[in-house]
Amino acid sequence: IQPLRLGIAGLGTVGVGVVRIVQEHAALLTARTGRAVSITAVSARSRNRDRGVDLSGYGWEDDPVTLARREDVDLFVELMGGSDGPAKAATEAALAAGKPVVTANKAMLALHGQALAELAEANDAALRFEAAVAGGIPVVKTLVEGLAGNAITRVSGVMNGTCNYILTRMESSGLPYADVFKEADALGYLEADPNLDVGGIDAGHKLAILSAIAFGTQVDFDGVQLQGIERVSIDDIHRARDMGYRIKLLGEARITAAGVEQSMRPTLVPADSPLGQLEGGTNMVVIEGDAVGQIVLRGAGAGEGPTASAVMGDVCDIARGFTLPPFGQPAATLTKPVRANAATE
Ligand code: NDP
Ligand code: HSE
Repeated sequence: IQPLRLGIAGLGTVGVGVVRIVQEHAALLTARTGRAVSITAVSARSRNRDRGVDLSGYGWEDDPVTLARREDVDLFVELMGGSDGPAKAATEAALAAGKPVVTANKAMLALHGQALAELAEANDAALRFEAAVAGGIPVVKTLVEGLAGNAITRVSGVMNGTCNYILTRMESSGLPYADVFKEADALGYLEADPNLDVGGIDAGHKLAILSAIAFGTQVDFDGVQLQGIERVSIDDIHRARDMGYRIKLLGEARITAAGVEQSMRPTLVPADSPLGQLEGGTNMVVIEGDAVGQIVLRGAGAGEGPTASAVMGDVCDIARGFTLPPFGQPAATLTKPVRANAATE
């Protein structure tokens, strides 16, 4: 069997993690998929930066679209980020050429997931994005595969590690939001546009993706009622603690009589509940299905190793020849979600 030849666009935190796994686990990947996984060529903005991994054996493309179209690339791995621009252009180029794509790009999927899924299916190409939601936690796979026999009634959880870090650090240090925000920035936790984290947008992207899979609807990011953590004060934190609660940036997507309700906002959770015990940058996703009941998934939602782990899970599925529709059912069967009006609930 021919090796599966990757073209990787983006050599930042996640891209380097993927290169490392391909290099360090070559034998394991072959044993598990029955096929060698190799890297043909890579792309990033700066060609000469030392990234701490050996890239000397790989080709280079300045333009990710050219990389996506190379004949010696079987699978395009998009790890640049950004909802539009080169990430979307290169993803579309690969799919249009009938090539599978693996991406960690939640912003792109939250805004263009339906169009990309339709393009993938029209060209008989896989589109996989486990890493886009909750980093290393295999939540997409769990919903699409493991829970395929359930009607899902609710998906909830903490899906942004940076916000959970800020809130738990405010609790432990007694420092106000502004000081802890600066600490998180100094530690490199914040996205280049911090509003994506603290404004709840990044977590909202993830919730919208999960909601689509769970309820068989088209991704509806605009339907997420969003509130960030910027206005959570240290007094709010103390009052919550005194009542036996903690404040979490909690996402919830559920089916109500009126339709799908999606929200991402600071929420009181009992301190002794699984969500209430979640510390630092960890993520937790709680899924409720009619047959399975409730399941709880917990783990690292970000970082080089965890996120690359999720990317490689998708790469291995493609090496094994697994073909699943991106959102768990054919894109044409995903319905336009009816938004529940929270005020009438
Ligand atoms: P980084 O900012 O660390 O890396 C981005 C990479 O993309 C860099 O190598 C950059 O090049 C490259 N790049 C940007 N624009 C272009 C372009 N026009 N052409 C070619 N290359 C380009 O991002 P991350 O690795 O953190 O994130 C990658 C993706 O994974 C994003 O979609 C992110 O949302 C997602 N993700 C990240 C997680 C994390 O923990 N970091 C967790 C879950 C998802 P250069 O290095 O030369 O500047
Ligand atoms: N900024 C995101 C977080 C990165 O803090 O969770 C992972 O998606």
